[in-house]
Amino acid sequence: MNTKIILRNRPNQTVTQDNFECIDADIEPLRSGQVLVLNQWLSLDPYVRGRMTERKSYAPSMALGDVVMGEGIGIVIDSQSDQFKTGDKVIGMLGWQTHAVMNCSAIKLIPEIPFSETWPLGAAGMPGITAWIGMIDICKPKAGETILVTSAAGSVGSVAGQLAKLQGAHIIGIAGPEEKCAYVQDALNFDYCLSYQHCNWLSNFNKYAPNGIDGLFENVGGTLFDSLTPQMNPYSRIAICGLIAEGLEEQLHSINLRTLLANRMLIQGFIVSDHVARWREIQKQLIDLIAEQKIQVYEKITENLQNAPQTLIDLLEGRCLGKQIIKLS
Ligand SMILES: NC(=O)c1ccc[n+]([C@@H]2O[C@H](COP(=O)([O-])OP(=O)(O)OC[C@H]3O[C@@H](n4cnc5c(N)ncnc54)[C@H](OP(=O)(O)O)[C@@H]3O)[C@@H](O)[C@H]2O)c1
Repeated sequence: MNTKIILRNRPNQTVTQDNFECIDADIEPLRSGQVLVLNQWLSLDPYVRGRMTERKSYAPSMALGDVVMGEGIGIVIDSQSDQFKTGDKVIGMLGWQTHAVMNCSAIKLIPEIPFSETWPLGAAGMPGITAWIGMIDICKPKAGETILVTSAAGSVGSVAGQLAKLQGAHIIGIAGPEEKCAYVQDALNFDYCLSYQHCNWLSNFNKYAPNGIDGLFENVGGTLFDSLTPQMNPYSRIAICGLIAEGLEEQLHSINLRTLLANRMLIQGFIVSDHVARWREIQKQLIDLIAEQKIQVYEKITENLQNAPQTLIDLLEGRCLGKQIIKLS
């Protein structure tokens, strides 16, 4: 029997428990080329909210009744494929469920890693690769430059800032509560982390980045982004990674074309899945950096599939630190 969480209805503005339903269903028989995976770890990520809504985007929305999408790690327990055998550990879009019938083209063997087996869902996987592309390829930090990362305590932002620090840049993070800022400074080794919840945070900002911003890794959007863009330097770069504030704030961004022109700025959105050809090469470098403890990783593991909806809601509403993982079996 498979226990799964399906999309029951679409969120209005914020995601609620009512959008999900947990049901039991029979496991369909395997066809040739398919495997049955017993799901062990499930990654929770903000993109799930985008796929719950119906709007034109870079990827299709989930249909009502679909298993909620999510990357996971599991173990093959039955195989009709000559590529995978029982006992193989695999990663793929296994979904919010205890068992997944997968086509063998949709899963990969877990790479050899000298650390926690869940990290390929975080710093050594999609979020880390996202951080790499936005920071190394787009922000291109150089020694002595000031680089800013929003949602700095999150799974992507925490790696992005540490990558820039390794290039010798001066790194400023922005996060919500003070505890997150303390974690970003003390554990992740950012030069400073500002809480946007302080009413005078922008004046502090000028104190810690007196020379302006050379690179901005943007995870949030909304009013936070609008308050940062006037601080951008000539020839600065902005990587638009995510707009997590979108669900909670209705806004039009106010970046001004005159500012872009006068400062000869680059602003680029990117989607990590466009870069699959470089996945292994970047992942290998991240694995080495994590193994050498040059990148610190924090993940929070919550037990039970039934806790996935609330954990996603907490993630979207700022109550989580680091990477959020659900332990299934
Ligand atoms: N482009 C791509 O291919 C790609 C791939 C993966 C992820 N992403 C994006 O990257 C971003 C980070 O992803 P993640 O997985 O690491 O999640 P995350 O940063 O941990 O996201 C959750 C955090 O966002 C912050 N946040 C939420 N609402 C906010 C608001 N209104 N204003 C300011 N901060 C807010 C909260 O932190 P505070 O408490 O500090 O505010 C919250 O803890 C997301 O926008 C995600 O969609 C993009």
